[in-house]
Amino acid sequence: MKDISEIRSDFPILATKVYGKPLVYLDNGATTQKPLSVINAVNEVLTGYNANIHRGVHAISDRASEEYEKAREKVRGFINAGKREEVIFTSGTTGSINAVAFSFGERFVHRGDEILISCLEHHSNIVPWQMMCERKGARLKIIPINDKGEVIIEEYLKLLSRQVKLVAVTQASNALGTVVPVKKMIESAHSAGIPVLVDGAQGIKHGVTNVADMDCDFYVYSGHKIYGPTGIGVLYGKEKWLTELPPYQGGGDMVENVTFEKTTFNVLPFKFEAGTTNFPGAIGLGAALDYVLSVGRENIRYREQELLEYATQRLSSIPGLRIYGDSASKISTVSFLLEGIHQYDTGMILDKLGIAVRTGTHCAQPVMERFGISGTVRASMCFYNTREEIDILGTGIEKVISMFS
Ligand code: ALA
Repeated sequence: MKDISEIRSDFPILATKVYGKPLVYLDNGATTQKPLSVINAVNEVLTGYNANIHRGVHAISDRASEEYEKAREKVRGFINAGKREEVIFTSGTTGSINAVAFSFGERFVHRGDEILISCLEHHSNIVPWQMMCERKGARLKIIPINDKGEVIIEEYLKLLSRQVKLVAVTQASNALGTVVPVKKMIESAHSAGIPVLVDGAQGIKHGVTNVADMDCDFYVYSGHKIYGPTGIGVLYGKEKWLTELPPYQGGGDMVENVTFEKTTFNVLPFKFEAGTTNFPGAIGLGAALDYVLSVGRENIRYREQELLEYATQRLSSIPGLRIYGDSASKISTVSFLLEGIHQYDTGMILDKLGIAVRTGTHCAQPVMERFGISGTVRASMCFYNTREEIDILGTGIEKVISMFS
C-alpha cells in the first residue's frame, strides 16, 4: 500500500487549515474528499471536451460519450455487475432509490402489499418507500434492531410474509456504523421469492462490493461518498428487473421514437437516463474508482478497521463518553455522546479545534428514537485519516468535557 503521506498528498484539501489549525476531517460518512486525479478528470472534461453525450456527430461530443461509457464500464467492473446495461447513472443514492421506489411501485405494488426496511435506514431509504406505499395503498414494515445496533435476523425472517414485495436494506448504517449481513438477508428473501435493494451509500467505500456474489436485485450508491464528485450516483439493477420496470422520468435520450400518439423507449441503460446526465460527474466517478483500485480495496479495508479499533479504544477510555452502535462488524464510524453535553455543543467546540465531525440525527431519525436520544456526534474515518488525528479528536473531546465541568 502507498504510504500515508503519499496518500494524503493525493488529497489537496487535507492540507487545509481551519481557524489556523490543521483540518482534521472526520466527516467522511457525509462526504469524502477528492484526490487530484478526480479533480483533474472533471477539469479535463470541462476544459477539453465539454459537449453533450450521445447527441453530437462532432469530435468533442464523441469523446465525451466515449469517456462516459468508459466510466460506466468502470462502475460495472467495480461492483462486478454482469452487464453494462445493468448500470444506470443517477444523481446519487437518493435519486436511485426514488427511481426504484417509483418504477417498482408502479409495476409490482398493490393495495395491501408490504415493503420491508430496517430500523437502521437513512431517510433516503425510508421516505421514497413511504411515498410509494401511500400512493399504492401498501404498508411499510420495519425490521427491528437490538441494543448493539444490529438487525435482529429472527425478527426479519418472521416478517418475510407473502405480502412483502421488496426488501430495502442498508449495507452499512451511516449513523452507527453497523455492517448489515445483507448477503444472508438476500438469501432468505430470495427463498421467499422477494427481491432486495441494497443501499450501498456507506458500504461501497469500505472493502469489496460484489453484486454478483451478493445476488442483490438492486444496488445503489453515490459518487461523492467514494471520493468522486457530487451529483452523480449509480443504480445497479438485474437486467430482468430493469427490463420490466417502466421508466421513472421521461425526456431526451430515454426514447426510441416519439410521436404525439405514442412514445417507445430506448434500450437499457438509456431507458432510465432521461435528460442530459451529469457526464463530467460520471467521468470523475470513473477516476475515483480507478484511484480506489490503485490503493487497493483490501488495503483500504484493513487500514480503516485499524483506525476503527484505535478510535474505539481511545474514545472508550474517556469517562462520560458513551458509544452508540457496537456491532461485531462495523465500518470505520464511531457515534457517541458525552454525558450531560449536547451533541451540537460538542461538535461546535471540536470545530473550533479544526476537527470536522457530524452532529445530529444523521438523517436517520428512527435510529435515534430507537436509542431514546436526539442525536449523536459522529466521527467517520477513512483510509487517509491517521492515528494522530484520532488522538487530536480524543484530546479535543477531553477539552470539551473540561469546559463543561
Ligand atoms: N448521508 C450522509 C451522512 O450520513 C449525509 O452524513
